[in-house]
Amino acid sequence: MNIIIYGSHYGTAKKYAEELARRICYELKSYEDIRDIDCYSTIIYIGSLYAGGVLGMKKTFEKMKDCGNKRIIIATVGLADPTNEKNTDNIKNAMKKQLPEEIYDSAHIFHLRGGIDYSKLNLKHKVMMGLLYRKIKSLPEEKKTEEEKAMIKTYKQRVDFVDYECLYQIIQDI
Ligand SMILES: Cc1cc2nc3c(=O)[nH]c(=O)nc-3n(C[C@H](O)[C@H](O)[C@H](O)COP(=O)(O)O)c2cc1C
Repeated sequence: MNIIIYGSHYGTAKKYAEELARRICYELKSYEDIRDIDCYSTIIYIGSLYAGGVLGMKKTFEKMKDCGNKRIIIATVGLADPTNEKNTDNIKNAMKKQLPEEIYDSAHIFHLRGGIDYSKLNLKHKVMMGLLYRKIKSLPEEKKTEEEKAMIKTYKQRVDFVDYECLYQIIQDI
């Protein structure tokens, strides 16, 4: 059995997961609805990035007893530009800390670009982004990472970088 599992607060990662499920005809579930993960042989996890963490990923893979014969694909969805290697290195380094070593090592990892609509954020996320914005803004320009510059550029806006064509790399991998 094969599945696509998604972790999404505002729907961007969910949209990617739905489109991929439509194209490859896999079962689709939110990480919140996963009880048993060991019954699947191919697991595609699509999760959005929140403060460096992939939403629901740790919780989901904690349920896996043995990753031996499984095909694991993980795709992150974030605001940071995934064509920038520094951004993807940062994401991967953070993922290493959220996953057991054998799962991280066997997973095929991809990075997709999401979007944000500040008017839709809940209070906690608005406050988090406000604090982050002020912290980054006060840094000298040469100390700001590309990820941080992108965050400043999109602050308080509505941006949508969702590109379904990027799913092709995952389909090819399968
Ligand atoms: C509080 C907060 C923290 C975020 N942290 C990151 C981050 O660390 N890296 C990143 O690339 N994007 C970050 N983002 C942007 C989200 O990953 C992006 O909006 C994504 O498309 C949200 O996916 P969703 O609609 O599936 O929840 C953050 C957004 C919020 C609101």
